[in-house]
Amino acid sequence: MTRTVYLNGAYLPENEAKVSIFDRGFLFADGVYEVTSVLNGKLVDFDGHAKRLDRSLSELEMKTPISTEDLLKVHRQLVERNGIVDGLIYLQITRGAPDDRDFAFPPAETEPTIVLFTQNKPGLADAPQARTGIKVISVEDLRWGRRDIKTVQLLYPSLGKMAAKKAGCDDAWMVEDGVVTEGTSNNAYIVTKQGTIVTRQLSNDILHGITRAAVLRFAREAQMKVEERPFTIAEAQDAAEAFITSASAFVMPVVEIDGTPVGEGAVGPIATRLREIYLEEMHKAAV
Ligand code: PDD
Repeated sequence: MTRTVYLNGAYLPENEAKVSIFDRGFLFADGVYEVTSVLNGKLVDFDGHAKRLDRSLSELEMKTPISTEDLLKVHRQLVERNGIVDGLIYLQITRGAPDDRDFAFPPAETEPTIVLFTQNKPGLADAPQARTGIKVISVEDLRWGRRDIKTVQLLYPSLGKMAAKKAGCDDAWMVEDGVVTEGTSNNAYIVTKQGTIVTRQLSNDILHGITRAAVLRFAREAQMKVEERPFTIAEAQDAAEAFITSASAFVMPVVEIDGTPVGEGAVGPIATRLREIYLEEMHKAAV
């Protein structure tokens, strides 16, 4: 089926949406993005994603081409026009297309490029992997130093994902100075044998996950103990449980790290409970 996508104010069939070869996103990865999930035709944590988008844009001194109110309308239109029940909405904004390649930013009047498209994922919340868990490998974190900005520079995460696939695993956790930063496209957590949820504290070293914020809030509300601090791969391998969070995976258990089973090597109760709470609360709050 041909999707209807959004490009610079117009709704178009996907094969008619064209972007210039001089677009800064194409030439310099000079763009930011967001991925928002759709459950039952409604948007999950739209406000969180819209706020982070504004922050990413302002950190890069990029113009905001659309108000949050209009952005919500575009998201809803795309859900409706593409008949999405469960899936994802991808949004990308770049610094636009000047008339030539130049490292310096283009003139202020250059309009940003804004693109949104849907990804249909029937049964997104019932992913079979949530029952089996995923396996991860560790790789060195070789990304740039502003991982708090959600830029489209995703080559290194893509290489990490491929290294995992080659090793027969599902994803990679990135390690810097001996401690885990995050997964290739998700935040990383362990649960200690005492039942404490541990995840790296917010800084420029990781993306400030929208799912992370919600999951930690729900965990604290459920009287679970949370510690925001770095952890090593060895500590993770010795933990009771491990899991990841993201807008597309929600809460996903990790059962093996670098070939070593975590805990019993099976999906654990805390990750399972957090996934249930997250999905339940988000179903209620979706807009
Ligand atoms: N990735 N860390 C990184 C490096 C990410 O790319 C993502 C999201 C997250 C989780 O953030 P959130 O909970 O807001 O989705 C953490 C998206 C899903 C992607 O690139 O497809």
